[in-house]
Amino acid sequence: MAEPRISSIDGKLAEEFAVPSHVEEVKEKMAAFARNHAEAGRRVVLITSGGTKVPLESRTVRFLDNFSSGRRGAASAEYFIDSGYAVIFLHRHRSLYPYSRMFLTINMLDALQFRGEEGASSNTGEVVVNQQVLPNIAKVLKRYREVKDGELLLPIEFSTLSEYLHLLKAAAQALSTIGSKAMFYLAAAVSDFYIPASEMPEHKIQSSNGPLQLSMKMVPKMLSPLVKEWAPQAFVTSFKLETDATILLDKARRALDTYRHQAVVANVLDSRRGYVVVVTPETQAELILTDEDVKNEVEIEERIVSNLTSAHSKFITQQAV
Ligand code: PMT
Repeated sequence: MAEPRISSIDGKLAEEFAVPSHVEEVKEKMAAFARNHAEAGRRVVLITSGGTKVPLESRTVRFLDNFSSGRRGAASAEYFIDSGYAVIFLHRHRSLYPYSRMFLTINMLDALQFRGEEGASSNTGEVVVNQQVLPNIAKVLKRYREVKDGELLLPIEFSTLSEYLHLLKAAAQALSTIGSKAMFYLAAAVSDFYIPASEMPEHKIQSSNGPLQLSMKMVPKMLSPLVKEWAPQAFVTSFKLETDATILLDKARRALDTYRHQAVVANVLDSRRGYVVVVTPETQAELILTDEDVKNEVEIEERIVSNLTSAHSKFITQQAV
């Protein structure tokens, strides 16, 4: 299917995807965040994380969801901050969040106990953290506070595809003011299909009407206007997710050819935590975690971020020439 012309995307966005009421306010917040950090000599990365939700009814009971836990985005945010970046974290509501992601599997009530007790069976008063359940909580809390006090992380939430598209556009325009110091790291899993507001039933679809047949339209690719119009000086990394490894690199190269951005992180669903390929127009770097790395709790996001921050440095130098 032919790519919609760039100039048509703004109109399509406004007509077919409901504009979130707070988008202008959020845009100003992001622009101020970017400006302040750039003035302090910091680079700024916009990370998208988590999956978009596409409603099937206006008064939504049912929706289509794209798979993404948000782990890649949340972990990457921490490594970018460790590398000196300030982070705008555009994430799906309730997906994994930097720092707290480490405690996701723990039931909060199992992590608490009454002071002076081994167990938590009787109510004697003050509640404290059980350090056996959360052995590294103090270290993580300390880092989280430093990041919060330094205002290095700006969290912005989305749930639906419409919110994602409008907030991404707002972020791109907000970051355009800092030129090549901005990086986009588009790890969110974004729906390729949607039902335009004008064609969406208002009420819950009735099963008494028989089997459901859906006709959905193609979502315009945001990469085109982002790279060419909204933030043309920024360093842009997209992600390519496939389940068939044999087509992955070809698809990643095709994305670079089409959108003319700086890098694609290519990954296969089943192996995404231990193997990715960072593809640029000139290079192809395989990043692999060994058994030893896994034993030492090394995360692949640390390698991805290290690779991309170096590429971003080179990019900034080249832009300055
Ligand atoms: O969150 P985790 O569970 O840790 O998993 C991480 C991940 C597998 C979700 C992540 O590594 C990943 O691959 N994310 C991108 C998945 C995806 O939706 O790929 P895609 O082929 O649909 O999109 C390719 C690129 O185009 C993406 O960077 C996307 O942000 C961008 N896009 C997509 C749709 C759209 N309308 N406009 C876009 O710009």
